Order: sequence, then C-alpha cells, then structure tokens
Amino acid sequence: AKKAVLGPLVGAVDQGTSSTRFLVFNSKTAELLSHHQVEIKQEFPREGWVEQDPKEILHSVYECVEKTCEKLGQLNIDISNIKAIGVSNQRETTVVWDKLTGEPLYNAVVWLDLRTQSTVESLSKRIPGNNNFVKSKTGLPLSTYFSAVKLRWILDNVRKVQKAVEENRALFGTVDSWLIWSLTGGVNGGVHCTDVTNASRTMLFNIHSLEWDKELCEFFGIPMEILPNVRSSSEIYGLMKAGALEGVPISGCLGDQSAALVGQMCFQDGQAKNTYGTGCFLLCNTGHKCVFSEHGLLTTVAYKLGRNKPVFYALEGSVAIAGAVIRWLRDNLGIIKTSEEIEKLAKEVGTSYGCYFVPAFSGLYAPYWDPSARGIICGLTQFTNKCHIAFAALEAVCFQTREILDAMNRDCGIPLSHLQVDGGMTSNKILMQLQADILYIPVVKPSMPETTALGAAMAAGAAEGVGVWSLEPEDLSAVTMERFEPQINAEESEIRYSTWKKAVMKSMGWVT
Ligand code: G3P
Repeated sequence: AKKAVLGPLVGAVDQGTSSTRFLVFNSKTAELLSHHQVEIKQEFPREGWVEQDPKEILHSVYECVEKTCEKLGQLNIDISNIKAIGVSNQRETTVVWDKLTGEPLYNAVVWLDLRTQSTVESLSKRIPGNNNFVKSKTGLPLSTYFSAVKLRWILDNVRKVQKAVEENRALFGTVDSWLIWSLTGGVNGGVHCTDVTNASRTMLFNIHSLEWDKELCEFFGIPMEILPNVRSSSEIYGLMKAGALEGVPISGCLGDQSAALVGQMCFQDGQAKNTYGTGCFLLCNTGHKCVFSEHGLLTTVAYKLGRNKPVFYALEGSVAIAGAVIRWLRDNLGIIKTSEEIEKLAKEVGTSYGCYFVPAFSGLYAPYWDPSARGIICGLTQFTNKCHIAFAALEAVCFQTREILDAMNRDCGIPLSHLQVDGGMTSNKILMQLQADILYIPVVKPSMPETTALGAAMAAGAAEGVGVWSLEPEDLSAVTMERFEPQINAEESEIRYSTWKKAVMKSMGWVT
C-alpha cells in the first residue's frame, strides 16, 4: 500500500509516575498519530516508602517506542519522518547509577516517598542564616518532596552508592537524566544532562543563576561531581543509540508539568493550566519574574526553550494525590477493576451524601505542606456505599484544586477567569463538571488530553538544528476545546467547600 504523505513528525516520551507513553505527533497540526502506553509498578517496601525500578522504567520506554513504531507501520506512516524526540518525565524522583556498568545502584526513590521526614526535620534545625536560605535560592520549601533529601538518604544508607561515589563511578539524575543517558548510549558515551525545569525540582539548583548551587550542595552534603550538566529545555542533547528510532535526535526535555504548560501554549504572563495525573499540578506562567508565594505555592522554572532563549518562571500549586486515589481504590480496596469504572460508580449516586475523602497518603502538599497528615474518609453512615466513596474521591481531586486555585488567585491578585485542564483524568466528564461546580468558573479542556507529551514534542521539534515546529498557535490546528460551565449555585458550592476544609483539618497532624 502507498505510504501516507505527512509533514515532519515528532515523538515524545511521557514518563509519568503511573505509566510510560510514547506518542507521535504531526508537527504541522499537532495531530496525535499513534501512541503506546505501559503501566509502571510502584513498590511500597515500608509504610511511607515509594520506589520504582529504574530498569523497568527504561525498558518501558523502549517497549513504547517499538510498539508505537509498529502501529505507525500498520497505518502506512513512514517512521523515517520522525525528526526529533522530546522527553517529559515525573519530576524529583531520584536515581543513582554506575557509569561503568550502566546499572542502577538503588531503586528510584519516588517523589511521593516520605522516608526523609526525619532528615528534613534535622536539616531544618540547621538552616544557615534565616529560614529563607533554601526557599530564596530554589523557590521550594524544605520538604520530603524534592530530590536533595532523597539523594542525601541514599548517600547515608546505601553502601554500594557510597563506594561508587568514592570510586568516581556514581551518577545522579532525575528520571529525564537516567533516560537520556541510557538512550544516548549509556556506558558507550551516554550524555549525562538534565534541563533547567527538572534541575529546579532538586533543591540543589539556583533558579536565579540557573546553576547548581555550591552552598546548597554543601548544606545537603551532595558531591557536585555526580550531578548532571544543566541544559535548556530545547536543544539537541544526543542521538538515540538503539531501536527503531536509532539516530533520531533527542532535543526536548521538560519536567512533565512544565511540558503541559508548553503543550497548552501558556506562554503569556498570567496563563495557567492544571494537569490531572498521579498528582495534580496547577502552574501559572509568571514571565521572566520569580514570584515568591505568600500562600504555600512553589516558585519553579517553567521552561527555557533554547540555549539563547530567556527563562520563564511559574508559580505552582502541587497536590500529591489525584489519579493515585483512583488507583488506590482499584488496587488496595478493589472496589473498581479498571480506573474508568470510577465514573460509572460515581454516576450511580451523583453525590457523596456527606462523605468526604481526604487522600493525604503522602502528607499534604500545597497549600499546607504538612508531612504528618494522613488520609481520612469521614461523614460515613450505614447508608454510605462504595459509590459514595467513589464520588467523594473525585470530589477530593476537585477540592484540592480549589485550594490551590484560591492560593494562586491570592498570590497573583487577578483571579483566573477559567481553568485550562489536561491529563488522563480529564476524560472523566463527572470530574470535569464537578470541577467547574467547585471552582465556580468554567473549565476548558483540549480534545487531545496528552498535553504533556505534546509540550515535550513541541520543545523537541523547535530545537535549533531540528526546526520543524514553530510554536505558533496555528501549529495546534488539530486541537479543539471542550468547556464545562458551573451548574450549581455559588452558595451550594461554598457550603461543600467549607465542609471539605473541616475534613482537611481532621487529617492534619495525624502522625506525631
Ligand atoms: O512532581 C511530580 C510530578 O511531576 C508527577 O507527575 O504526571 O506522574 O502526576 P505525574
């Protein structure tokens, strides 16, 4: 059969906490041509610990690339049209590997992991100068969430890592670094790099000078020689060294939340997006200014799309548990068999009947930053059934978003008139309607929810030396928008929200 004629294509790896995907887009229209997805295991070796196998993550990327290429072949699309590959990834998750063998020296310590709570407590007692030492340089509160404390824990507790550091064999990276190093050749010349967005989540990176910070590395006791080179989010880092796409440049790299901001074309000061993945992350572009929050939000690097391009910053509201609560209902309680079934259960009742579910499984992130909070389900009666709990789980995602939107509005001064959303959960129409009702503003979602991958593909396609994506609005002509308007009245919305806040208070300070 005749091969379909298309413009240049761009691929994107989207390595999230729950799954890995590879997607291929037409660079002229942003049309998604094919993709493949593989779920990733999470291990919970102890209460509060969350780990993943770095090798499984890497193999899942290879598998997704190969399967997507096969699917493109079945569509008669020539994979030699793929001109670049972008990488977007779960942020903060910490990997240490041996540069001589290519083997990970420990499991990846996932961003949700709480084992460093005591490390954080003891470090916070010896912050030099004033309490702003870490925040003023990194934009981040001292928390278990970020890589520096995870790496500190690994250096303190894993003998193999200590030995490899002494012998100058250890490399550290977030998932992007691990993947790019491996995909560009690993022990045979792999490129050890990261981009500014991922670096800004380590708590070792100075977001003003855009360099690793010597004082922070000393404070956390991190040897600087194991850190990757920090590059922009859009430039050629290296070429794929194996597989169906061997020789294709990897030329885009963004932490997944930054990638979604780019994929939603939030390039102007004040534009914001909320992505519903394992967690839920609302980012608002603040232009070239670092805005420091008074209400529990983070200041982070949004993107820098080219070596000589300016850096953009964002304010971020981070919610640890969003899609993860649905996975928990599936894997731990077994009340659904597939994640999609949650919508059917919630629809059967259309209300939680006074049941509130605060999924503070990893403590509470923004705006509370309380590592001692734990999950609670409250307001139960003998009438409550699994459908009400399912509904309360969806509502929890929406209430948490409301909390960060409120904080964002207070920090920015100008309330958002609507919320742009994306991510896997946005295909759930009940969730989208609930979100509009609870925020009391319209919620707008693109027809193609894979905005994270799209952003990484755009960065890769726009890189110098690739030049197949111009980042102009017309390049997204295949993307249409769907809008959800609030349907309940403002008073009802406020009553539900204030009861939620009561439930949140009960979840806080649980672990002493
Ligand atoms: O900061 C963690 C975040 O990057 C994880 O993203 O897509 O796995 O929820 P996701």
